[in-house]
Amino acid sequence: MSAISLTDINKTFCQTADRKNGNDTSGIEVLKSITLDIGQNEFVALQGTSGSGKSTLLHIIGLLDRPTSGRYELTGLDTSTLDDDRQSDLRNRALGFVFQSFYLIPYATALENVILPGLYSGVPRTELKARAESLLEQVGLADRMDFNPSRLSGGQQQRVAMARALLNEPDIILADEPTGQLDSATSTEIMKLFHTVHDSGKTIVLVTHDEDVAKEAGRIIKLHDGMIAEDVR
Ligand SMILES: Nc1ncnc2c1ncn2[C@@H]1O[C@H](COP(=O)(O)OP(=O)(O)OP(=O)(O)O)[C@@H](O)[C@H]1O
Ligand SMILES: [Mg+2]
Repeated sequence: MSAISLTDINKTFCQTADRKNGNDTSGIEVLKSITLDIGQNEFVALQGTSGSGKSTLLHIIGLLDRPTSGRYELTGLDTSTLDDDRQSDLRNRALGFVFQSFYLIPYATALENVILPGLYSGVPRTELKARAESLLEQVGLADRMDFNPSRLSGGQQQRVAMARALLNEPDIILADEPTGQLDSATSTEIMKLFHTVHDSGKTIVLVTHDEDVAKEAGRIIKLHDGMIAEDVR
């Protein structure tokens, strides 16, 4: 069974400005007939020029947005049959997210930030806290758990974001430019963490502009103008 299976996925965004003018409302096609299978424990880098549709595709894979048409199966489940609540459940259970700007809550500590995605999982708070502490130790932040994000370096904030992504023990990690704001030494450090996570059996889809980062993946998929232009293992 594939981790992620996309068949003929299209995404069109409405052009509001045009609609106001009473013009054509056909919208812009951002993803065009994307068919793609990602197996369990694959490490995929998603590349392409700005505007080629990478984030849009990652949002669809992450159940943060729905395709306009096409079929998307996540761990064998046809996601189109799920209502928004059941999609949220599946998202919280199966997927972990790491973004370029870390989206940490500024007034919460590192530990509280990592616990956050577990609050609706039904897992008791003591268990969440133990998990979060263990994850922060694994990413090398045992001595920074009580720090607010503003007192952490960029690399440390990204490590908190990785620990947070792993809290619900998802099988799939989705990352959008996770090293985009980091210098090359810190970026190397974060990529080491991705390898550790990959070695533990997880599937990774990572959007990156950085060729060196992309080379670390086992498979590179290039998007061009909303279509898959290249898919190399
Ligand atoms: N909510 C939206 N409404 C309308 N158009 C959108 C929306 N989101 C994205 N787009 C358009 O879709 C296209 C692809 O955007 P997307 O964010 O997926 O690109 P990207 O490949 O991630 O680019 P970047 O490398 O700059 O992050 C762009 O032309 C963008 O303007
Ligand atoms: Mg993007």
